Formats: sequence, C-alpha cells, structure tokens
Amino acid sequence: MSLFATKSIAALMDEAGAEGEGSLKRALGATNLTLLGIGAIIGAGIFVLTGTAAAQYAGPAVVLSFILSGIACLFAGLCYAEFASMIPIAGSAYTYAYSTLGEFLAWIIGWDLILEYLFGASTVAVGWSGYFTALMNEWGLHIPASLSNAPLTVTGGWHVHATGALLNLPALVLAAAMTVLLVVGIKESANFNNFIVFVKVAIVLLVIGIGFAFVNPANWHPFVPPNTTGQTGVYGWSGVIRGAGVIFFAYIGFDAVSTTAQEARNPQRDMPIGILGSLAICTLLYILMALVMTGLANYTELNVAFPVYVAIAHTGIGWLKEVVNIGAILGLASVVLVMLMGQPRIFFSMARDGLLPPVFGKVHPRFKTPYVTTILTGSVAAIVAGLFPIQLLGELVNIGTLLAFAIVCAAVIVLRRTRPDLHRPFRTPLVPLVPILGIFCCVGLMVFLPLDTWIRLAVWLVIGLVIYFSYGRYHSRLQQNVEAPSAVAAD
Ligand code: ALA
Repeated sequence: MSLFATKSIAALMDEAGAEGEGSLKRALGATNLTLLGIGAIIGAGIFVLTGTAAAQYAGPAVVLSFILSGIACLFAGLCYAEFASMIPIAGSAYTYAYSTLGEFLAWIIGWDLILEYLFGASTVAVGWSGYFTALMNEWGLHIPASLSNAPLTVTGGWHVHATGALLNLPALVLAAAMTVLLVVGIKESANFNNFIVFVKVAIVLLVIGIGFAFVNPANWHPFVPPNTTGQTGVYGWSGVIRGAGVIFFAYIGFDAVSTTAQEARNPQRDMPIGILGSLAICTLLYILMALVMTGLANYTELNVAFPVYVAIAHTGIGWLKEVVNIGAILGLASVVLVMLMGQPRIFFSMARDGLLPPVFGKVHPRFKTPYVTTILTGSVAAIVAGLFPIQLLGELVNIGTLLAFAIVCAAVIVLRRTRPDLHRPFRTPLVPLVPILGIFCCVGLMVFLPLDTWIRLAVWLVIGLVIYFSYGRYHSRLQQNVEAPSAVAAD
C-alpha cells in the first residue's frame, strides 16, 4: 500500500454528484461568489492584527507588508483557481491533494487545515472580544480585564505561563454561541451573507473615506522604522517581511470560495472570478485601510485589541467610533461562524475517506447537521479562544495555512505533469513559474515567522503523523480498495 496512492478524480466527481443530488442547489453566480469570498476574508486580520503588525514589526510600512502578503496570495489564488474550476466539487486543499499528491500529503494538508479553520475561529473570536469589550465599556458596562484577556501565554514553543487574567469570557461565549447556531442548523443564506459583507465593506470604506481627511502625514515618518536592536523581524526590512507573515491572516478565506464549488451555477467560469476577484478587492481595501490607520495614529499606539477604534478616535468623530465597533462585532462574528462551519466539512470528508473514525461523519437525525464534529470543533475553538492570546493563535494559523498553500501550488505542477490530458477551464498562467513563485513566497513568509511558531507547527504535525500511522493508514478506504479496478481505471 503506497502512501502516495491518489484518489481518482472521476471518483471524486461521482461522490460529489451523489452528495449533491437534491441537497445542494447551484444558485451562486460570480457576484455571490465574490461576496462570499469577501465575507470570509475581512475579519480580525484587518481589524486587529494590522495594529499588532504595525506596532511590533513594521511601523507604517505595514502597508508594504500587505502588498507582499497579497502577492503571495495572488500566486496561491491562481493555483487554487485551476483546481476549483477543474474539480468543481465541495472540495478544499485536502481534496485537491488527495487526487494529486497522494493520501499522505492529503492527510498533512487536512491536519493543517484544522489549524486554519479551528484555530482561525478561535483567533477571530479573540479579536471579536476586543471590540465587544470596548463597545460595552463605551456603553457603561465594564468587563474587567481579568475576564476579557487571555489567562495563558506560551513562550519558547511550549512553555506555558499564566498572565494573571482568569479567562477571555466574551471570546469563549461567542465561539460557544456560534456552535449552538450551527448545530441547530442555521443555513447561511446568500442574503444574510450579503448583508454582513455590505456592513463590513461599508465600515472599511467609511474609515478610509473619512479617515483620509484627518491623516497626519507626520505619522508616516519614518515609513520603515529602523531596526535598532539588531533583532530580526523587529522593524527595518525584516520587520516588513515578518509583518507580512502576521497580516497574512487578513487574506485567509479566499480559499473558502472553492468549498462552495458545488453550489456555483457555472463553476468553471465563476470560481476563478470569485477567488481572484475577492482577493483583489480586499487587497486594495487593506492597503488603503493600513495607510489610513497608520496615518491617523502613531504606529506605537496601535498595539491594542481594537486598533481601528483607536485610530478612528483621532478624527474626534464620536459616532464613527461606535459605528466601527458595531460593524467589527457583526463582521468578526460572521467570520467565526463561517470558519466553524468549514471545519466540520473537512472532518466529514476525512471521515468519509476512512482517515478519521466514522463518528466524525455523523449527521444529526433531526437537524441534519454534522453535529458531532460541529460540537467538537466548537468546544475546542471556544476553550482555545478563552485561554490564549490572539497573536500566538494568529501566527500558528498563518504558518499552517501557508504550508497548505505551498502544497496546493506544488500540486498544480505535479498534476500538469501526471495528467496533462485533464480539462482545465481555468489554467494557472506561466506554469511552473507562478506555482514556484507561490511556493517561494509562502515559504518565505513562513521563514520570517518566529521560531516558536515553527516549533508549534512541528508539534502539531507530529501529533497528526501519530494519528495517521496509528489509525488513518489502516482504515483508509482508498488503501483498502487501492487494487480495485474501478478506482484505478475510473478517470
Ligand atoms: N481573513 C480572516 C480574518 O482576517 C480570517 O479574520
């Protein structure tokens, strides 16, 4: 049995057809898909981590960090678009890897995606907590710091320290509440999503539009604060790159468009538009937003849980602060919801393939939701959100997602060689140059993340390998049927 056995693309399409019949409607057009992407993308990255990255690593040059990170995502997005149009099923990087690079790498990606979705939900919940606490404070309801901050922090990879706080209660409650909604079967309708996207984009445009008029250009000097300590990643150009690795979080989510491929009316044409369109719009908004934030406030002021609020306070417009807060709260909650919805789908696919126990694929008899995985995902996300700080979580999510993106880029090159015959409605341009640049950029951003984050990624992957070699490999459906002629000859 080979670790690199691949799942046939025809079999994937069959599964998709079997699952899709009668349940998934092909209702989404290019505009909906683009809005869906924007809905998944704009979140804690721009609302929280921009401040952290500017204050700690890049200064006003966080604008350049956004450009760098956007370029990395563009290359990865072009590779995602080829897969999403070629295998237009409710897939993800996990599915793509299973059909190209083999089961072992698919498992690594699937395990990695847990970092993206589950820990991503925790990260955004912590970001939500910052804005929620600030709004409550504004309304006269003071949530004590000991109940709105992370009680634990981790240094040196795995040395856990207490911070003195008790619990980040709002973050925990939000993740738990979203989990309950998902279990009883909230159906994310396109209309609801469009409304939230509208709110988020409106807030961002308001901040940009009004903020620009109040910018103090002195705050942009020095644009790249000099690295005076000699420490890599703390200001200077290395700080710009580390900043890019941190705010990469802000772009995560464009890949979520690919998971709705089965619900797209014309996936071959619209998937690339949705993925690349949402990415392009967000990149532009982010660059302008970062310019405004670092122009309104000095970058050193932005190391807080609610930096957009702090920046906008410099305009002296009271109602704007409140509007920003409410928009951030709604917008971030929707990202948590989408991420907690995505994770069970991935567990579901992995259980269907036999790599996880069948209980992970269980659907609730009444609510028709994958309740076991939803509750598991939500509980872990809530506990993690209640205990750990945003920066630590965000960096872990980023390193895991960057690795998954790099593998997707590699998969494009591999599949062009192994299956040049497959119909590719959207072709990544300049292969292998673009995928190679994608791998280079993703790995480059990973390299500049702190060593601690690498250690945590390594520990996470080791846990994943132990599970694969003690369970997945022996229960994998593909491994059991690999000799079956229908599976091999199906394409
Ligand atoms: N890109 C999403 C966010 O910034 C994950 O919250």
